[in-house]
Amino acid sequence: MQAVAQAQPNIALIKYWGKRDVDRNLPAVDSLSVTLDSLWTRMSLEFDGQLQHDALEVNGVAAPAMLQRVSHCLDLVAGTDRAFARVESKSNFPIAAGLASSASAFAALVVAADDAAGSGHGKSALARLAGAASGSAARSLFAGFVELTAGDTRIEVCSISDCASWPLEIVVAVTAEGPKPVSSTEAMIRSARTSPFYSSWLEQQAADLQIARDAVQQNDFAKLAAVAEHNCLKMHSVMWGSRPPIVYWNQATIACMETIRALQADGHGVFFTIDAGPQLKAVCLPEAGGAVRAALDQTSGVLKTLHSGLGQGARLLEPE
Ligand code: PMV
Repeated sequence: MQAVAQAQPNIALIKYWGKRDVDRNLPAVDSLSVTLDSLWTRMSLEFDGQLQHDALEVNGVAAPAMLQRVSHCLDLVAGTDRAFARVESKSNFPIAAGLASSASAFAALVVAADDAAGSGHGKSALARLAGAASGSAARSLFAGFVELTAGDTRIEVCSISDCASWPLEIVVAVTAEGPKPVSSTEAMIRSARTSPFYSSWLEQQAADLQIARDAVQQNDFAKLAAVAEHNCLKMHSVMWGSRPPIVYWNQATIACMETIRALQADGHGVFFTIDAGPQLKAVCLPEAGGAVRAALDQTSGVLKTLHSGLGQGARLLEPE
């Protein structure tokens, strides 16, 4: 009745933005991501017949605001007739600030809950259950380069290349640590309802994904860089064109983009991507990682940088 699981965040290179079905949390578009290794969320979970309600602690502090989503996810994995659960989540990076903490949290949660309840869902089923809680979480079940296909009624997720085939590195420039002003769900709904660019975003996604998939299979960094930056800036253009507009960037985000442009001009293998928050994620060839981190550390407004390789999907840990 007790289990511990770990998952790492993933960073989308071809973004999920928009929902086909809000109630079932089905994405409107396919996406492609990389799973990280050195940032993690560890989720300890115990079903306990003595409890009167579910209880959640995040980094040692009670987190009632997130409890409803966690309880719903537990119902999906273990059934609504389950015992109540004590859940403790710990992350070694800032949460709710565009660093995909909900992805690693829900990926770890479904793996721990499945084991503790003895539900025996396979990995694909667990990815769907994680995705029902947070669309991007489905990808953190898998290692390396991960593709999510958004069907009409369910998603399919698979790893298209492992970490060793192309050991890229990620440097995250943290530019603000508070929670984001607008949740990604609310922002996606507003984008779909009000942005004049939303329909072209949907139309072009398959073409972007095909280019990125080819680039990953050919280890073609320049090709991946061009399509990933384009896809990211297009997603943010959809948001900027929404009413009221959704702008997740701050001055330091832009300063980081300038740093990346300067590194590229000097011949370093690096490109950027930005999610629903002000952090910039630099994707680098291994030989560029050190220079990229040093340059982002020197960039005005950067609070700190985090450095990661590519890693494994969500998995069980031995309880402490
Ligand atoms: O999984 P959610 O609902 O937090 O949405 C994540 C959306 C982006 O991070 C902006 C893009 C992505 O594909 O991860």
